Amino acid sequence: MESEWNPTLVENILREFKPQRMYILKALHRLQDSHPQQYLPEETLDRVAKYFNLTRGQVFGIVTYYTMFSSKPREKNIARICKSPVCHSKGSTLLAEKLQRKKEILGIPNLVIEYSECLGQCHRAPVMLLNQEIQADLTDEKLDEILLSLKENNHESRP
Ligand code: FES
Repeated sequence: MESEWNPTLVENILREFKPQRMYILKALHRLQDSHPQQYLPEETLDRVAKYFNLTRGQVFGIVTYYTMFSSKPREKNIARICKSPVCHSKGSTLLAEKLQRKKEILGIPNLVIEYSECLGQCHRAPVMLLNQEIQADLTDEKLDEILLSLKENNHESRP
């Protein structure tokens, strides 16, 4: 399993931000997205604390406070459904519940479903971010297609 920590990549990402606290959330997002398992390893949190002149506990507090961050390796697929007003008014909460039910019916255990704030695609609501890809104009049928494709990929990736 991939669990490598890439100190050079972490340093390069951190250097994109001024070492001011106002940038810490953006930096954590970039660092998490850059990790193959979409999480923030302890070594990264230590480095972030040093860079932003915070204690490890303060950084860990931020990571545990925001549900978008994880300090543990993540499941393979993460669906983040927008719950901001435009998507919400177009039924994103209902779609999230349907996605959860369909995931269980189809047996896709490695799909994590979360909510997210606005994904900047309001004109295509309802929207979700599946791993790093925007899925827009979501419908029941589109959810089925997405889930079936995930299920097929799971089978293909098994040894
Ligand atoms: S409200 Fe959902 S993408 Fe903006």
